Amino acid sequence: MSDRVLAPFGRRCCEVSANRASGGYRVVSALDREGPQPQPGQFYMLSTDAWGGPGGRPYLPRAFSVAAAEPAREGLRLDFLIEAVGPGTALLAGLDSGDSLHLTGPLGRPFSDPGELGKGAAGAVLVGGGIGVAPLALLRRELARRGVPQRTLLGFRDRAHSGGLELFDCSEIRTASEDGHTGHQGYVTELLGVLLEGDDARSAAVYACGPPAMLEAVRLMCAERGVAAELAMETPMACGFGSCFGCAVPLADGGYMRLCVDGPTVAADRIESALIAGSGH
Ligand SMILES: Cc1cc2nc3c(=O)[nH]c(=O)nc-3n(C[C@H](O)[C@H](O)[C@H](O)COP(=O)(O)OP(=O)(O)OC[C@H]3O[C@@H](n4cnc5c(N)ncnc54)[C@H](O)[C@@H]3O)c2cc1C
Ligand code: FES
Repeated sequence: MSDRVLAPFGRRCCEVSANRASGGYRVVSALDREGPQPQPGQFYMLSTDAWGGPGGRPYLPRAFSVAAAEPAREGLRLDFLIEAVGPGTALLAGLDSGDSLHLTGPLGRPFSDPGELGKGAAGAVLVGGGIGVAPLALLRRELARRGVPQRTLLGFRDRAHSGGLELFDCSEIRTASEDGHTGHQGYVTELLGVLLEGDDARSAAVYACGPPAMLEAVRLMCAERGVAAELAMETPMACGFGSCFGCAVPLADGGYMRLCVDGPTVAADRIESALIAGSGH
C-alpha cells in the first residue's frame, strides 16, 4: 500500500463517464485509459477545457484525492468527490458525461501500512471530515480487500456539507454532524476520543483527512495517547509535482517538506502543526 505509484509523463485527456450528486457534493467519474492503478492517499491535478476562460480563472489545475479506482472495460474508472467552493471546483462539478477531464497523476505519497506507522499497530481507524472523506474511501476499500481490521468515523458540518458515504462501500460507518442531521451531534473527534479510551487503542493506527482544525485535534489527541497517526493534508498546491515550493510546510525538527511530493500523507509526529495558513475546505 505504501509504494508510490508514479504518474505517466504529461497530462492525459479522459472522458467523463458520470457526474452524480452525493449529498451536498458531486462524484465525477472519468475513464483513464492509460494511467496506472493509484494507491490510497494519492491525488491528481485536474482541469477542464473551460480552464482559463473569461477572466482567466482558474488558471492552474487543482489537486483532488482519488476516492475510488475500479477496473473498467477500457481502462480504469476514477471517481473524484468534489465540493464546489470556487471557480475550478464549480467547473468540475458541472461536467457532463462525454466531456473531457484533463488529469495528471497519480501524484504524491500514499498512506502507509499500519505496521509502518506504529509498533504493534495491526488495524486502522479512519477519521474523515467534510470533503476530506474522499481519500479515506479508497483507503477503506483497500484495507478491507487486504483483510486489515478497520473502523471508520466521518464528521460533517451540516447536510449541505456532507456526502460520499456510499464510496466507502461499508455499512458500519459511525458519523457525527454539527447540526445533528446524522449520527452523533458534535465533532467527529469526540467519537475518536471515545474510541481511543479503549485498552486496545494502540493496536490501530489513525488515518485522518479533513479541515486543518480537525487534523490538529487528531494530531494532539494521538500524541497525548501515544497512538500512531498519519494525516492527509490538503494545503493548496500550484504545480503538484515538486517544482514551485508553494506547498512547503514546517517540520517539527526544523526544515520543511513539500506536501505534493513528500506528502500529502504525513506522519503526525513529523509536523509541528496541522494548522497551515490557506489550507482547508
Ligand atoms: C492533495 C489535495 C487533495 C484534495 N482533494 C480534494 C477533493 O477530493 N475534493 C475537493 O473538493 N477538494 C479537494 N482538495 C481541495 C481543492 O484542491 C481546493 O479546494 C481547490 O483549490 C479549489 O479550487 P477552486 O478553483 O474551486 O477554488 P479556489 O480559487 O482555489 O478557492 C478555494 C477557496 O478559497 C476561497 N478564496 C479564493 N481566493 C480567495 C481570496 N483572495 N480571499 C479569500 N478567499 C478566497 C474561495 O472562495 C474558495 O472557498 C484537495 C487539495 C489537495 C491539496
Ligand atoms: S505544489 Fe509545487 S512544489 Fe508542491
